[in-house]
Parts: sequence; structure tokens; C-alpha cells
Amino acid sequence: MAEPDLLSDPLRFERRVPPCAVVIFGANGDLTKRKLLPALYRLAYERRLPPAFAMLGNSRTNMDDDQFRAKMRESVQEFLENSPFDEDLWTSFAQKLFYVAGDINDPAMYKAVSDRLAEIEVSQKTEGNVLFYLSTQPSFYAGVVEGIGQAGLHNGAGWRRVVIEKPFGHDLTSSRELDRRIHAVLPENDVYRIDHYLGKETVQNILAFRFGNGIFEPLWNRRYINNVQITAAESIGVEGRGAYYQEAGALRDMIQNHLSQVMATIAMEPPAFFEPNAVRDERAKLLRSIRILKPSEVGQNAVAGQYGPARIGGAEVPGFREEPGVAPDARTDTYAAMTFHIDNWRWAGVPFYIRSGKRMPKRVTDIAIRFNAAPLSLFPGGGADPAVAPNLLIVRIQPEEGISLRFLSKHPGSGMKLRPVSMDFNYGSSFGSRTPTAYETLLVDAMSGDATLYTRQDMVEASWKAVQPVLDDWGERKFNFPNYDAGTWGPKESDEMLGRNGHTWRVP
Ligand code: BG6
Repeated sequence: MAEPDLLSDPLRFERRVPPCAVVIFGANGDLTKRKLLPALYRLAYERRLPPAFAMLGNSRTNMDDDQFRAKMRESVQEFLENSPFDEDLWTSFAQKLFYVAGDINDPAMYKAVSDRLAEIEVSQKTEGNVLFYLSTQPSFYAGVVEGIGQAGLHNGAGWRRVVIEKPFGHDLTSSRELDRRIHAVLPENDVYRIDHYLGKETVQNILAFRFGNGIFEPLWNRRYINNVQITAAESIGVEGRGAYYQEAGALRDMIQNHLSQVMATIAMEPPAFFEPNAVRDERAKLLRSIRILKPSEVGQNAVAGQYGPARIGGAEVPGFREEPGVAPDARTDTYAAMTFHIDNWRWAGVPFYIRSGKRMPKRVTDIAIRFNAAPLSLFPGGGADPAVAPNLLIVRIQPEEGISLRFLSKHPGSGMKLRPVSMDFNYGSSFGSRTPTAYETLLVDAMSGDATLYTRQDMVEASWKAVQPVLDDWGERKFNFPNYDAGTWGPKESDEMLGRNGHTWRVP
């Protein structure tokens, strides 16, 4: 009797992934271990990978296929998120994993990848379709794409695409230079710049919420919305990534990419169709409407912070400058907050406040949309004041994914006393099922050729343009760091930035 096919079940395909090979450069790295392999394994578990599938890993470490498989098994077991590990499935999945050792600066490595791909194409019937995934250090991205080009790997019997991790460049100039070198090998349509926030279910749901319902969109503009706050707080520090993070900082690491994309999703115009370029055109248009700050405006619209040591829950937490790999005088922003002004008809005059930081009191990412207060207060002495407890729509990206709407309600009893209450939608209780991780969604999309949730050159460029004046200013500025204690909500200057507009940060 034929072996049951443990990897695929055509009836369960939500989206058909065609036969293909995924080549991961940087296959011995953290991202592969924590995110990519667990995501591929999970797709196999969900029977969402085609039978004709293979993964070819590359890194400098000498390993054969079996050693690589053993290593990947450990990663999957360690990092698989709320899913069981299935031995039989693993045995079958592991047969699809291959490995080539070699230095990404060495042309011979690309030749070895090419030879191995030719074998895989025949043995695994992948039809010449190849997704190259660049999970290397960012400084190697352009070189790897050129290596692919010189070895002729960008052409083949099937499609060829390249997925590029963030950060895409270090600033506007370097991101343009990276584009120039990539486009010398590949057309833009084959370049998939990944921003894993766009793959999060809750971020995708913003589109469903806004454009699948009739009741919110009429309110979604400057007439009814007072301000928007996007918070991405992490309780962890830099977790062994001190050397990378020291050069990046919060503005580059989170705001230029993830949170700008979230803002674009919240604020964009409805696309004419739900089709990759139609959606991306609208995101790009929004990002291009962000006002570019003049140097003299940066101080009023951007705040940098860096955490210092503190005692949290009885334990000593080191300051950023005491973290491994970080210089004792590092000027890195581990907290950044910015006011974005979107100069278009929908949003003129509505500030979008974005903040992100490490070592905050808790891990939470959410969006708070604050509506204008009722034009007059009919209930004098009625308890909560609409100006103090305004209508708020909270989109909870993570954790406790969901959406809630806060409004005022009459407190039971005599008299008209009001107090704020919430209407809540919670993913867990409404859908019950496990939600796919962002990497599962994005890998399926890239293998299927759907770039809707990937960023495009013009989008990345527009978001670099929006933060560049701040990066330029901060590059020159003398900071009095550290300026917030680990475990707190950031420097007081951030509260002052909102205070100047009569606003306050909501405590998530
Ligand atoms: C990454 C940043 O892109 O996103 C990290 O480099 C950050 O510094 C991470 O911790 C946050 O992602 P998530 O999905 O955990 O919110």
C-alpha cells in the first residue's frame, strides 16, 4: 500500500501553494530557528504545503543534510507555538530538508546551491520554482542577490522570487542603493520585502474591520476622530541582540517599518479592489502623505529615550548601556515616540502618535482611536466627563487580540450618573481556533505569488523619508541618556509632546 502523504491534503488548502523549493540563506541563524522552520513545519502540519516541496538551507557551518535536519528538529521542538510536535509528520517533513554549506561571499557557494537545486527539482518535482529567503545579516543582502544573479539562479524553468527581511537599508540613501543593486538582478515584482507586522492576523483584520463593514468608515476621518495612538511596548530588553540594536534603535527597528505600516493600514483610503497592487498603492499613497518635518520641527514631534537600570519585581535589571555587546556610552534610542501629521483631506489636523520601546512595563501592541467628545454635556454632575473618558476604539494587536469600543453608559440607580464601559470582541472566544503566525501567512503568500502583505519599494522609501529628518537630528544631538527607568512608560518628554496638544498617552 502506498505511504499516506503526511504533508499535503488538497481538501484543506486554504490557498494553493504551487510546487516549489525555498532556499534559506542564513539557515543557521536565529530567525530560521525561531520563526521560519517552525512556520514551515506548522504549514506541513496543517497540510498546506504541496507534496512537491523542498527547503534548502545554507550557512557557513559544515553540516550534511542529516545534521541539518537534526538541528532543525531541535528548533521546531523548541519554538513551535501552541502546536503539538508530531513524530510521524516530522519524519516525513525532514525528508524535504536539504543543506549546502558555504560562504555567501564565495561564488562557488551559489554554484553548489544551483547544483543542489537542479537535483531537488528532479527528485522533489518542484518544477523549477524557487523562493530565495534572505535571512542573513542585512549588510549581505545586496551581495547575496548579486551572487544569485551571477550564478544565473534568478532564471529557471519556473518562477524565482526573493524575500528580504528588514531592515531594508539603514536610512533613505542606503535603502535606495540597496534597491538599485537588487533591481540590477530582479524586477520589483519578484522582490518581497517582508514586514511581519503586516502578516499578523490582527493587522490584516484592520482591513476587514474598516472595509468589510459599513458603520465605521463614515466616522473614519478628521470630523469624528481626535487623535490616534499606536503603541508597541515590549517588556524585554535587547535579548542578546545588543550589537545589532545599538546601531538600529527603536525608531529604525520598529517605527520606520512595522508601525508605519500599521498606521498606513489604519489610515489608508479604501482600495478599488482587494488585489496586491491596489492595496499597496493605497498604503504607499498614505505614507507619501506624511508631512516631512523641517529640522526645526523635529524637537516638537519626536522624542528619544534610553532605559537605565532599575529593580523590577525584586530583581535588578541592567540599563541598556550595561547590556552585553553595548558600548557604555551608546546613544541608541531604546524608546522612540513621534507625532505624524498626515496631510490629506481625511486626516488633516489629526495627530497620529506612535511610540515603541524596550523594557516597558508590559508587552502590548495596540491602536487607540480617540473620537471627539459629544458636542455638549447633557448630564451635569453625571459622573464621567465625556472629555475625560472619550469614546475610544482599541484595536489590540497583541496579546489578547481583539477590538473594543469604549463608551459612556448610565450607572444603575437614580439620577443620570455615567461611567465608561466596553463592548469587546476577542479573537480567542469568537473563533476559538489557533491563529496562524505572521510567518506562516507570509510564507504561503510569497510561495503563492501574493505580495499584498509585502512592502514595495515606494512604500519603504516613503517611510524612510518620513523618519529621516529625525534620524538626522538625533545623529547630531547630545542626549542625556539614560532618561527612563527600565519597567516604566518612557521619558517624560514623551508625555510633554502630547501635552502640548492637550492630549495624553493612554495607559494600555
Ligand atoms: C522585530 C524587531 O522586527 O520585531 C524586534 O527587530 C522586536 O526588536 C520584534 O522585538 C517585535 O515583533 P513582535 O512580533 O514580537 O511584536
